[in-house]
Amino acid sequence: MDEQEGTQLTLNQLQVHVKDMQQWQINEDFAKQIEDFKTLPVLYRHALNELQNKIDVIKSEWQVRDGFSPIEHVKSRIKEPKSILQKMQRKGYEFSLGNMEQYIHDIAGMRIVCAFVKDIYRLVDHLSAREDMRILEIKDYIAHPKPNGYQSLHLIIAIPLILLEGTRWVKVEIQLRTLAMDFWASMEHILYYKFDKQLPAHVAEELKEAARAADELDQKMLRLRREILELSEGDGP
Ligand code: GTP
Ligand code: MG
Repeated sequence: MDEQEGTQLTLNQLQVHVKDMQQWQINEDFAKQIEDFKTLPVLYRHALNELQNKIDVIKSEWQVRDGFSPIEHVKSRIKEPKSILQKMQRKGYEFSLGNMEQYIHDIAGMRIVCAFVKDIYRLVDHLSAREDMRILEIKDYIAHPKPNGYQSLHLIIAIPLILLEGTRWVKVEIQLRTLAMDFWASMEHILYYKFDKQLPAHVAEELKEAARAADELDQKMLRLRREILELSEGDGP
């Protein structure tokens, strides 16, 4: 989620970027596709709004039932046109709206930051059981961290939008993290770009070490939570 929050895709921006890149032929067909491109950001924005509503309901239900919501904060963004085009080029897809919808899964992105690791899995279980969305892919970088130490759980989901033309399923990428994982990922992101994506070996090693420290912190918080729950259960009559 490198893009600015709330960035809007506009037709003009897209045309400018495509001309900049020049690798793609701009023919009549392509021009028509760019015209159609106007409607897409609106769809992705609606999908994010719908998802946000669902998450708000979950949060308040959790709050009422357990006295606190394990969801700390939620952020969403629409990918910038330039990044979409660069990604398509990097992955070797011809530019077409069909390819864009089919292969670029993170045009709409949401990041959900939770207090505890356990809550991430509770939330994923809940989302998987719902009938108003489909889980298309799960990547569990918590159980299997990336070689650099990165941890998060990524979902690609599809949300149904009821439109005049009928139902359209729109993809959203959700990244679920704890506060500690989010802290690490934000720092790593800053350093990665600071060093122009070429981290010196000792920096990469220390970052990995920091990821392990973040993981230990998460485990410690879980143990403390368990202890507090056991103590408060012991308080009962
Ligand atoms: P791309 O979508 O092409 O990036 O490949 P992918 O689908 O294999 O991506 P993946 O699911 O691994 O990661 C998607 C997003 O997660 C990225 O765009 C970042 O926002 C975030 N991410 C993944 N790896 C890292 C990492 O090492 N550091 C940080 N800070 N963020 C990461
Ligand atoms: Mg991805």
